Amino acid sequence: MSTQLTPILTRFWDDPRSWTLATYEKHDGYKALKKAVTMPPADLVQMTKDSGMRGRGGAGFPTGMKWGFLPPPDGGPRYLVVNADESEPGTCKDTPLMMAAPQLLIEGVVITSFAIGCNHAFIYLRGEVVHVYRRLMRAVEEAYAAGYLGKNILGSGFDLEVTVLAGAGAYICGEETALLDSLEGRRGQPRLKPPFPAVAGLYARPTVVNNVESIASVPAILLHGASWFAGMGTEKSTGFGIFSLSGHVANPGQYEAPLGITLRELLEMAGGMRDPNHKLKFWTPGGSSTPMFTDAHLDVPLDFESVAAAGSMLGTRALQIFDDTVSVVRAVSRWTDFYAHESCGKCTPCREGTFWLKQIMERLEHGNGSQDDIDKLLDICDNILFRSFCALGDASTSCITSAVQYFREEFEAGMHTSAAEMFPPAASTLFAKETVSA
Ligand SMILES: Cc1cc2nc3c(=O)[nH]c(=O)nc-3n(C[C@H](O)[C@H](O)[C@H](O)COP(=O)(O)O)c2cc1C
Ligand code: SF4
Repeated sequence: MSTQLTPILTRFWDDPRSWTLATYEKHDGYKALKKAVTMPPADLVQMTKDSGMRGRGGAGFPTGMKWGFLPPPDGGPRYLVVNADESEPGTCKDTPLMMAAPQLLIEGVVITSFAIGCNHAFIYLRGEVVHVYRRLMRAVEEAYAAGYLGKNILGSGFDLEVTVLAGAGAYICGEETALLDSLEGRRGQPRLKPPFPAVAGLYARPTVVNNVESIASVPAILLHGASWFAGMGTEKSTGFGIFSLSGHVANPGQYEAPLGITLRELLEMAGGMRDPNHKLKFWTPGGSSTPMFTDAHLDVPLDFESVAAAGSMLGTRALQIFDDTVSVVRAVSRWTDFYAHESCGKCTPCREGTFWLKQIMERLEHGNGSQDDIDKLLDICDNILFRSFCALGDASTSCITSAVQYFREEFEAGMHTSAAEMFPPAASTLFAKETVSA
């Protein structure tokens, strides 16, 4: 465990015009690429395996191993697709990274493409973030003009085109195979696996899909070495990551730290709870898809294994903090609305199940629940979890089952008392702040 921040990806975000190529070059920008193009591509894959880095998009699959799954080159195209969809409630690390340091991502894209033998890479961006789209497009333009993209990069003989594509803003398009369908111009819905993208991905060709933060971490691993990276974090969750603190915290924002840090340590660095008169009630370790924790979990090391052992998932390290002015039923009801809205409709358990979950959560939120509503909620969750076509269905159940586990009495109260009566908005520190600033 560590009480130290490790500003690596975030190291120059507060520089003036941090997003420009000139600023990036002042901070070792493209030094790693210069080294990469002198190395055999297989050594870059091995280096990434040796670093132990696990994907930063949520599932935590080892990045180097994923690259190693590509079949040997057959003369046809192979693709790198960067997943920049970032649409999960609470998750907010890739968007600021691309706003503050888009060149970091582009350098990672070039090195990864060189490592896996790709000559055309794609960045699939969430459609709503038009400001990020503009910034990325400009950064790609600058990289082309400087010879870091295009033909014969740095005289190495390696060619790479990069296309930035903005999706239409559907959460399911962050699921890697739905993303590929969307990129091909189809309706974004998950594909049956196998075949996995490594074998038949974009346009049925071998494809690596990686998260923005995974790819942006590659230049630092190359510059400082795999053992430097593996020396941070824990044995099986190596390296650093961006932890996004939001909600009832004094200084919300991005905190880059070694995996294995705890919320207690992060909260201390973030100035504690926003209103010290109120206690931490519940929090998510990795966005709304991950089962919630309570103040009993403040000392759980935030690495893949420890969070799983405590009953949740590290996910995207989106730490949403809620104090005791918040109704857990109301919060879960909002998340359930989101999942019902974003269900793509392809499979029955998720399409129908999220619809019914939403009806029951609304009843409980408004104090109109019936005697068997909690059992019904849990039964529906049981019929969605591991019976859905993709992880969105599973995710829709996490907040409900964990909230019932820790706060059953609030759900029981929903049979006669509304969330608004139990937790009047005026008592909420969030509401009070907004009123003052309005
Ligand atoms: C509904 C859903 C949404 C997802 N959204 C994202 C996303 O926005 N960004 C992301 O990197 N991964 C997302 N994922 C995970 C991807 O399917 C995939 O695991 C990830 O992009 C792999 O990258 P990594 O190995 O670098 O973590 C999502 C998965 C699901 C089921
Ligand atoms: S689980 Fe939900 S989002 Fe995934 S395929 Fe089924 S309906 Fe679509």
